[in-house]
Amino acid sequence: MKDFFTLEEIDEVALVIKAKTRHNPKIGLILGSGLGDLANSVENADIISYGDLPYWPNSTVHGHAGKLVIGNLENKSLIVMQGRAHYYEGFSMAEIGLPVRVMQRLGVEIIIVTNAAGAINQDYLPGDIMFISDHIALIGMTGNNPLRGPNLDELGPRFPDMSQAYDKILLEKAISIAKKNKIKPYSGVYVSLSGPSFETPADLRFMRVIGADAVGMSTVPEVIVAVHGGTRVLGISGISNKANLDGSTITTHEEVLEAGRIIVPKLTKVIKGLLAEL
Ligand code: HPA
Repeated sequence: MKDFFTLEEIDEVALVIKAKTRHNPKIGLILGSGLGDLANSVENADIISYGDLPYWPNSTVHGHAGKLVIGNLENKSLIVMQGRAHYYEGFSMAEIGLPVRVMQRLGVEIIIVTNAAGAINQDYLPGDIMFISDHIALIGMTGNNPLRGPNLDELGPRFPDMSQAYDKILLEKAISIAKKNKIKPYSGVYVSLSGPSFETPADLRFMRVIGADAVGMSTVPEVIVAVHGGTRVLGISGISNKANLDGSTITTHEEVLEAGRIIVPKLTKVIKGLLAEL
């Protein structure tokens, strides 16, 4: 496990990818738990296994394919992560952020980050999507910030601003595309925890009080790295389950994957709609 990466190491990965693809993507897409099927819509795809890339964190979680799919969607060139690594698997925060760093060095300007999340907001139902308007970096506040360590000054400042982590223009566009497609256009605050245990009812009531609408175990580290490097971000949570605020139900990974099947067609519509407008 590596705690920090140098620019040279990041560029080493970028060079391997460049040698394996004909495409020159400007848009990155990270697919969360149960959402990997979206990558099947990519045309003229060059596919790279995570295992063929140096340093790359290779997720072992069921529902994460572990492939980079580089190709076209709506005539836009994009690089898709079919599966992501999580902190709870034992990777360092720097390793979780590495794919975003590599995308930045490949010339990616916009990253669309997706995840599966539990609904703290009681209006949301499994199968809904929530556009992320802001996040609570609970995992970062407790010391696990992906920017900890030597700052890569070539990429961004030591103390990056996070007041507009989620690009307002992309968020508004995505909401309007959802409305046009008769998809409920929820937007809200995502809180990230390390996992892998799901939350207790008391954890969840705490998160409701501090203003979270959805909870998950990913996304925030990647977004912090993206914003640090000047990349525009759209975040989308696929709501897989209602968070268990009163302790009356249980949460399982199977239901998270099951909800993905309902969410993928909605996400595909929104992402294709957005790409067509970019
Ligand atoms: N909690 C945390 N992470 C999750 C959940 C949840 O309820 N659902 C999907 N990912």
